[in-house]
Amino acid sequence: MTVKGFIFDLDGVIVDTASHHFAAWQILAEDLGVPFDEKDNELLKGVSRVDSLEFILNKGGLVLDSQTKLRLMEKKNAHYLSLSASIGVNDALPGIVEFIRELKSRGMQIALGSSSKNAHQILGQLELTDAFDAIVDGNRITLSKPDPEVFMLGARLMGLTPSECLVFEDAKAGVEAAINGGFQVVGVGNEIELSDADAIIDDFEKMNWERMQNLLSNS
Ligand code: BG6
Ligand code: MG
Repeated sequence: MTVKGFIFDLDGVIVDTASHHFAAWQILAEDLGVPFDEKDNELLKGVSRVDSLEFILNKGGLVLDSQTKLRLMEKKNAHYLSLSASIGVNDALPGIVEFIRELKSRGMQIALGSSSKNAHQILGQLELTDAFDAIVDGNRITLSKPDPEVFMLGARLMGLTPSECLVFEDAKAGVEAAINGGFQVVGVGNEIELSDADAIIDDFEKMNWERMQNLLSNS
Protein backbone atom coordinates (compact mmCIF):
# COMPACT_ATOMS: atom_id res chain seq x y z
CA MET A 1 0.00 0.00 0.00
CA THR A 2 1.29 3.44 -0.93
CA VAL A 3 -0.41 5.36 1.87
CA LYS A 4 2.03 7.55 3.83
CA GLY A 5 -0.34 9.87 5.64
CA PHE A 6 -3.52 9.54 7.65
CA ILE A 7 -6.09 12.27 8.10
CA PHE A 8 -8.50 11.93 10.99
CA ASP A 9 -11.71 13.85 11.47
CA LEU A 10 -12.15 14.86 15.13
CA ASP A 11 -15.82 14.91 16.17
CA GLY A 12 -17.17 11.35 16.07
CA VAL A 13 -13.84 9.77 15.10
CA ILE A 14 -11.46 10.70 17.90
CA VAL A 15 -14.00 11.79 20.51
CA ASP A 16 -17.75 11.56 20.88
CA THR A 17 -18.78 15.21 20.80
CA ALA A 18 -21.74 14.72 18.45
CA SER A 19 -24.20 14.58 21.34
CA HIS A 20 -22.89 17.92 22.66
CA HIS A 21 -23.18 19.61 19.26
CA PHE A 22 -26.70 18.15 18.95
CA ALA A 23 -27.78 19.32 22.40
CA ALA A 24 -26.42 22.82 21.79
CA TRP A 25 -28.15 23.14 18.39
CA GLN A 26 -31.35 21.80 19.89
CA ILE A 27 -31.44 24.53 22.56
CA LEU A 28 -30.93 27.14 19.87
CA ALA A 29 -33.53 25.63 17.51
CA GLU A 30 -36.04 25.48 20.35
CA ASP A 31 -35.44 29.18 21.15
CA LEU A 32 -36.12 29.94 17.49
CA GLY A 33 -39.22 27.70 17.38
CA VAL A 34 -37.70 25.42 14.73
CA PRO A 35 -38.18 21.64 15.07
CA PHE A 36 -34.79 19.90 15.12
CA ASP A 37 -34.27 16.18 15.64
CA GLU A 38 -31.51 13.57 15.43
CA LYS A 39 -32.15 13.05 11.73
CA ASP A 40 -31.48 16.74 11.10
CA ASN A 41 -28.38 16.53 13.26
CA GLU A 42 -27.06 13.61 11.21
CA LEU A 43 -27.03 15.90 8.17
CA LEU A 44 -25.06 18.51 10.10
CA LYS A 45 -22.22 16.20 11.11
CA GLY A 46 -19.02 17.53 9.57
CA VAL A 47 -20.79 20.72 8.49
CA SER A 48 -19.42 24.10 9.63
CA ARG A 49 -21.05 26.18 12.35
CA VAL A 50 -22.34 28.82 9.94
CA ASP A 51 -23.73 26.31 7.44
CA SER A 52 -25.40 24.42 10.31
CA LEU A 53 -27.11 27.62 11.47
CA GLU A 54 -28.24 28.35 7.90
CA PHE A 55 -29.74 24.83 7.75
CA ILE A 56 -31.81 25.49 10.89
CA LEU A 57 -32.90 28.94 9.71
CA ASN A 58 -33.92 27.52 6.32
CA LYS A 59 -35.84 24.75 7.99
CA GLY A 60 -37.79 27.33 10.00
CA GLY A 61 -38.17 29.69 7.02
CA LEU A 62 -36.34 32.37 9.01
CA VAL A 63 -34.29 35.21 7.52
CA LEU A 64 -32.02 37.02 9.99
CA ASP A 65 -29.41 39.76 9.67
CA SER A 66 -25.74 38.90 9.97
CA GLN A 67 -25.34 40.47 13.45
CA THR A 68 -28.12 38.26 14.82
CA LYS A 69 -26.61 35.19 13.16
CA LEU A 70 -23.25 35.93 14.77
CA ARG A 71 -24.90 36.30 18.16
CA LEU A 72 -26.76 33.00 17.74
CA MET A 73 -23.56 31.18 16.74
CA GLU A 74 -21.77 32.58 19.79
CA LYS A 75 -24.62 31.39 21.98
CA LYS A 76 -24.57 27.91 20.46
CA ASN A 77 -20.81 27.73 20.91
CA ALA A 78 -21.01 28.80 24.55
CA HIS A 79 -23.47 25.94 25.17
CA TYR A 80 -21.23 23.53 23.26
CA LEU A 81 -18.12 24.56 25.21
CA SER A 82 -19.84 24.23 28.55
CA LEU A 83 -21.17 20.77 27.63
CA SER A 84 -17.76 19.60 26.40
CA ALA A 85 -15.76 21.15 29.25
CA SER A 86 -15.67 17.81 31.06
CA ILE A 87 -13.89 16.04 28.17
CA GLY A 88 -10.54 14.82 29.43
CA VAL A 89 -7.60 12.60 28.65
CA ASN A 90 -9.62 9.39 29.09
CA ASP A 91 -12.36 10.39 26.67
CA ALA A 92 -10.69 9.56 23.37
CA LEU A 93 -12.79 6.84 21.72
CA PRO A 94 -11.59 3.27 22.44
CA GLY A 95 -8.59 2.18 20.35
CA ILE A 96 -7.96 5.47 18.55
CA VAL A 97 -4.92 6.57 20.56
CA GLU A 98 -3.29 3.14 20.24
CA PHE A 99 -3.96 3.10 16.48
CA ILE A 100 -2.45 6.56 15.98
CA ARG A 101 0.58 5.47 18.04
CA GLU A 102 1.02 2.39 15.87
CA LEU A 103 0.86 4.47 12.70
CA LYS A 104 3.48 6.87 14.10
CA SER A 105 5.74 3.99 15.08
CA ARG A 106 5.61 2.86 11.45
CA GLY A 107 6.78 6.27 10.28
CA MET A 108 3.38 7.44 9.01
CA GLN A 109 2.34 11.08 9.11
CA ILE A 110 -0.83 12.07 10.92
CA ALA A 111 -3.09 15.06 10.28
CA LEU A 112 -6.33 16.32 11.73
CA GLY A 113 -9.01 17.36 9.23
CA SER A 114 -11.86 18.89 11.21
CA SER A 115 -14.53 21.49 10.41
CA SER A 116 -14.60 22.53 14.05
CA LYS A 117 -13.19 25.84 15.23
CA ASN A 118 -12.92 24.22 18.67
CA ALA A 119 -10.61 21.45 17.49
CA HIS A 120 -7.48 22.81 19.22
CA GLN A 121 -9.39 23.20 22.46
CA ILE A 122 -10.75 19.63 22.36
CA LEU A 123 -7.44 18.09 21.29
CA GLY A 124 -5.79 19.94 24.17
CA GLN A 125 -8.31 18.53 26.64
CA LEU A 126 -7.55 15.04 25.27
CA GLU A 127 -3.79 15.80 25.49
CA LEU A 128 -3.44 14.69 21.87
CA THR A 129 -2.18 17.86 20.19
CA ASP A 130 1.39 16.56 19.91
CA ALA A 131 0.28 13.38 18.16
CA PHE A 132 -0.40 15.34 14.95
CA ASP A 133 2.08 16.46 12.30
CA ALA A 134 -0.52 18.87 10.93
CA ILE A 135 -3.76 20.25 12.32
CA VAL A 136 -6.38 21.68 9.99
CA ASP A 137 -9.49 22.98 11.73
CA GLY A 138 -12.45 25.20 10.96
CA ASN A 139 -10.33 28.33 11.43
CA ARG A 140 -8.05 27.40 8.54
CA ILE A 141 -10.62 26.71 5.84
CA THR A 142 -13.26 28.71 4.03
CA LEU A 143 -15.32 25.89 2.53
CA SER A 144 -17.21 23.34 4.60
CA LYS A 145 -17.25 19.59 3.95
CA PRO A 146 -18.34 18.14 1.46
CA ASP A 147 -15.81 20.52 -0.11
CA PRO A 148 -12.42 18.77 0.12
CA GLU A 149 -10.48 21.91 1.22
CA VAL A 150 -9.85 20.65 4.77
CA PHE A 151 -8.30 17.38 3.58
CA MET A 152 -6.40 18.96 0.66
CA LEU A 153 -4.72 21.34 3.11
CA GLY A 154 -3.96 18.47 5.50
CA ALA A 155 -2.30 16.51 2.70
CA ARG A 156 -0.35 19.57 1.54
CA LEU A 157 0.92 20.30 5.06
CA MET A 158 2.21 16.72 5.24
CA GLY A 159 3.85 17.15 1.82
CA LEU A 160 1.69 14.38 0.36
CA THR A 161 -0.77 14.00 -2.51
CA PRO A 162 -4.38 12.92 -1.85
CA SER A 163 -3.61 9.47 -3.28
CA GLU A 164 -0.92 9.03 -0.62
CA CYS A 165 -3.39 9.72 2.22
CA LEU A 166 -6.19 7.81 3.90
CA VAL A 167 -9.05 9.71 5.55
CA PHE A 168 -11.14 8.49 8.51
CA GLU A 169 -14.60 10.07 8.71
CA ASP A 170 -17.88 9.50 10.55
CA ALA A 171 -19.99 12.01 8.59
CA LYS A 172 -21.63 11.65 5.21
CA ALA A 173 -20.43 15.18 4.31
CA GLY A 174 -16.89 14.16 5.35
CA VAL A 175 -16.88 10.97 3.27
CA GLU A 176 -18.06 13.00 0.27
CA ALA A 177 -15.36 15.62 0.93
CA ALA A 178 -12.67 12.95 0.89
CA ILE A 179 -14.01 11.41 -2.32
CA ASN A 180 -14.28 14.86 -3.92
CA GLY A 181 -10.60 15.44 -3.13
CA GLY A 182 -9.44 12.10 -4.56
CA PHE A 183 -8.68 10.49 -1.18
CA GLN A 184 -9.33 6.93 -0.09
CA VAL A 185 -11.71 7.03 2.86
CA VAL A 186 -12.72 4.73 5.68
CA GLY A 187 -16.15 5.47 7.13
CA VAL A 188 -16.44 5.12 10.90
CA GLY A 189 -19.97 4.17 11.92
CA ASN A 190 -23.21 3.75 10.02
CA GLU A 191 -22.94 1.47 6.98
CA ILE A 192 -25.93 2.99 5.22
CA GLU A 193 -25.06 6.66 5.82
CA LEU A 194 -21.42 6.10 4.82
CA SER A 195 -21.94 3.61 2.00
CA ASP A 196 -19.83 5.67 -0.45
CA ALA A 197 -16.67 5.09 1.63
CA ASP A 198 -14.00 2.63 0.39
CA ALA A 199 -14.38 0.66 3.62
CA ILE A 200 -16.41 0.96 6.82
CA ILE A 201 -15.50 0.15 10.43
CA ASP A 202 -17.72 0.28 13.50
CA ASP A 203 -15.01 1.84 15.66
CA PHE A 204 -11.25 1.62 16.38
CA GLU A 205 -11.45 -1.00 19.12
CA LYS A 206 -9.88 -3.76 17.06
CA MET A 207 -8.12 -1.57 14.57
CA ASN A 208 -4.47 -2.06 13.76
CA TRP A 209 -2.07 -1.87 10.82
CA GLU A 210 -2.81 -5.37 9.57
CA ARG A 211 -6.58 -4.97 9.72
CA MET A 212 -6.37 -1.68 7.93
CA GLN A 213 -4.40 -3.23 5.08
CA ASN A 214 -6.94 -6.04 4.79
CA LEU A 215 -9.77 -3.54 4.72
CA LEU A 216 -8.20 -1.59 1.91
CA SER A 217 -7.19 -4.58 -0.16
CA ASN A 218 -10.79 -5.84 0.02
CA SER A 219 -12.26 -2.46 -0.97
C1 BG6 B 1 -17.84 19.24 12.96
C2 BG6 B 1 -19.04 18.67 13.70
O1 BG6 B 1 -16.70 18.49 13.26
O2 BG6 B 1 -17.62 20.59 13.36
C3 BG6 B 1 -20.25 19.55 13.49
O3 BG6 B 1 -19.30 17.37 13.19
C4 BG6 B 1 -19.93 20.99 13.91
O4 BG6 B 1 -21.32 19.05 14.24
C5 BG6 B 1 -18.72 21.48 13.11
O5 BG6 B 1 -21.03 21.84 13.67
C6 BG6 B 1 -18.31 22.90 13.48
O6 BG6 B 1 -17.93 22.91 14.83
P1 BG6 B 1 -17.62 24.18 15.72
O7 BG6 B 1 -16.96 23.59 16.94
O8 BG6 B 1 -16.69 25.06 14.93
O9 BG6 B 1 -18.91 24.86 15.99
MG1 MG C 1 -17.11 13.97 12.45
